[in-house]
Parts: sequence; C-alpha cells; structure tokens
Amino acid sequence: MGHAAPHTPILVIDDDQSILQLVSDILTRHGYAPFTAEDGTTGLELFRKEKPPVVLTDIQMPGVSGIEILKKVKEVSPTAQVIIFSGFGTTDDVIRALRLGASDYLAKPFNIGLLLHTVSRCVERHGLIKDRMGRKALLEETVRERTAALTESFHETVRTLGLITEKRDPYTAGHQHRVALLAMAIGAKLALTTREIEVLKVVGLLHDIGKVAVPVELLVKPSLLSTIEANLMKIHPQAGYDIIRGIPFIKSLKADVPQMVLNHHERLDGNGYPRGLTADELELESKILSVADVIEAMSSHRPYRPALTMAAAKAEILENRGNAYCPECVDACITLIETHNDDSKQLFDYLDTRSY
Ligand SMILES: [Fe+2]
Repeated sequence: MGHAAPHTPILVIDDDQSILQLVSDILTRHGYAPFTAEDGTTGLELFRKEKPPVVLTDIQMPGVSGIEILKKVKEVSPTAQVIIFSGFGTTDDVIRALRLGASDYLAKPFNIGLLLHTVSRCVERHGLIKDRMGRKALLEETVRERTAALTESFHETVRTLGLITEKRDPYTAGHQHRVALLAMAIGAKLALTTREIEVLKVVGLLHDIGKVAVPVELLVKPSLLSTIEANLMKIHPQAGYDIIRGIPFIKSLKADVPQMVLNHHERLDGNGYPRGLTADELELESKILSVADVIEAMSSHRPYRPALTMAAAKAEILENRGNAYCPECVDACITLIETHNDDSKQLFDYLDTRSY
C-alpha cells in the first residue's frame, strides 16, 4: 500500500449506488476508510467537513458534475488528489479534468488492481506534497527567526555605539535616544514609511557619535564655549560621518545614514555647518533630525545652563520656521509638543511607549 497510512479517508462520489458499494468494499478491504456520497452537493459538503486527501468521483452525474466537484475541491484544498471515473464517451471530459488538475482517471468497469494502484499513488503523492510544504514552512520559520536575531543584534550595536558618546558626556545622557524618538514621531506625522522611520531611529541614535573626537573638557564645560572651542565642537558631524561610513550594517539600511549624520547641523538657509548646504541639498531625514535635535537640546539641562522651557524651544523653531528649519517638520513637531501640553517629560514618556 506504499505510503498509505492505515485508515486514510477516501471520499467516493457516484450516483450509481452499486459502484459506490463496490469501490467502498474494495477500499475497506485494503485498509482505507472510504465514505460515500450519491451526488455532488452532498459530496462537496462531506469534502469540506472531512478534507480527505483523495477524492474519487464519477464524471457524469445529474446536478453537480465531476468537473465542478474537481474545481471546488481544488479551490478548497489544492493538495487534495482527485481521481475521475470515466464512462463510455467521456474522453473530452477526462482531458478537461486532467487539465484542471485531476490526478488520474479510471475507466469503468474497474480493474481492481489499477483502482488500488491509482489510489495508493495519490495518497502517497498527497503525503509528499504535505511533507514538502511542512519543510518549506519550517525553513521560512528559521529564516524569520534568524532575521529577527540579526535585527536585534543590529539595534544592540547601534545602541552601544550611541552609548559611547554619552559615557564621555554624561550631561547629554539620553539625548540621542530622545532625539531618535522625536525624529521618528515627526517622521510618522509626515507619513514616512516604516523603513524610513527605522532609518531616522538609527540616525537619531548615532547623530552625535562624532563627539568622541571632541575633547571631553569642552563637552562638560560649565560656561559657554569660546569661538575656538565652538569651532572645535563643530567637527563632530564630520567625525561622526567618518566613524560610521565604513560600518557594513549601516550600509545595509540602504539609506545614506552617514550623510544624514554629517548634515544634522545644516540649516535650510545655508547658515548651518559643516558645509553650509541649503534646503535643496538636504535630505528630509536631516531636516527632521535638526528639528528634533534642537527641541531636545533646548528642553534639557546643559552644563552651562539649566533646561529651558518647552515654550522657549517651540519659539526657536517657530521663529526660524522656513529659514533654518523645514516648515512641515516644524509643524509636525509643534503638534506633537502641544498634544502633550508643552510638557517635555510628558511628551518623551509618551514617545518612549510608541512603536512604528
Ligand atoms: Fe550634534
């Protein structure tokens, strides 16, 4: 009986009761568990309920024909094997059935050996298809798991890189994390795709990494920087660019993350640094990041001043809306701030709970 499991259910449909009885007896004697229907409608009902791996059906029946049964069965369960009984003068129908996916046909009157051989082969084929589908599903599951593990380790690495900056500059601890959160929320308001928001997260978490190249005394200096010191501080976008541009997993994001890091202090009107680029030369992500950066920096404590109010931070971006900052980014950011009552803690606590 080949691969046929004992008691494999087989549905037999024929309007001729004597044939049903005969086929049923033969199959039972050979270890199958046949069940029968005398018309197509009942047959299809039974099929939907039991989902047997193999269906034997007469081709010419009053009411629902064998061809219609075949079509419906394949619709419900594409792996099910359908064997057609053909009587005299049904050659065209048989060809049609085979084209529609019937596994085989048996001419009446039956040759018992051939009937058993055909059923056995169909049961076996059904088992093989199921096996293959199972293996494919297993493989897909493994790929999903591995991808998730890789993504996890990617985020962990980005987080660690971000922490390097903050270890040297405890005053800005959490700055990059909060900038990432705000940039992502602005991106979502501007209807960016999940992938673009993902890029904003990485750029946010790494944008100040170049500060590792700035002397630590400047980072923690409790008074405003002199011009020379301020110029030294301005090397950090370029240093950040140089640090991350060679990292393979950053390249895998298929977005110019190093460029966005380089441009995070550029302004639309060309008054930013390091290159003084203007609106047309800046990518949207950099524009979003510069708004998120200034809002977070102003509303946080700095070594040379206490935290400013959210109202002051808002005033800065509103005053320079369209000159320094991208208008749409400013509007999206203002909406976010106002939704949280101009309260920095409330806003960032909320952003921390969001996922995209
Ligand atoms: Fe910066």
